[in-house]
Amino acid sequence: MKRNILLHPDPRLKKVCAPVANMTDELRSLADDMLATMYDAPGIGLAAPQIGVLERLIVMDCVKEEGEAPRPLIMFNPEVLAGSDELNTYEEGCLSIPDQYADVTRPAEVDVRWIDRDGNEQTETFSKLWATCVQHEIDHLDGKLFIDYLKPLKRQMITRKMTKLKRELARG
Ligand code: NI
Repeated sequence: MKRNILLHPDPRLKKVCAPVANMTDELRSLADDMLATMYDAPGIGLAAPQIGVLERLIVMDCVKEEGEAPRPLIMFNPEVLAGSDELNTYEEGCLSIPDQYADVTRPAEVDVRWIDRDGNEQTETFSKLWATCVQHEIDHLDGKLFIDYLKPLKRQMITRKMTKLKRELARG
């Protein structure tokens, strides 16, 4: 089932989310809903707070090549264990901040640990777009948005545009 994606600014996007304690069917179906919502948007990553659920859960799939098999990832309690000294800059966007993009610099590679859909612990080293995406999504779980990396003026400009957009959407 597709869920509604919250738009910035929203207080729920600024909260630190709670760890997931036990795997349940409810959590599994929440994760499946998030993947459906992400693919529909379309996007390459989505964090639970973006649909108003303040729990440490992200989903992503950064496969972009036409014809390449999708690789949906569901990550409960994801944690960056280590990041490379080498940095990488990508133009980032966010489903909660539609049509706004900006360069963000982050470690080019990160080791990440998480609990998968079956409740098993996984670790993997991510690089390139996957590394940027997983860091962007984990940031969401700590109430941090990619615009928080930008200079205040640029961040305020984007927030003003978003406030205006939300007002227009509310009017219908
Ligand atoms: Ni985002």
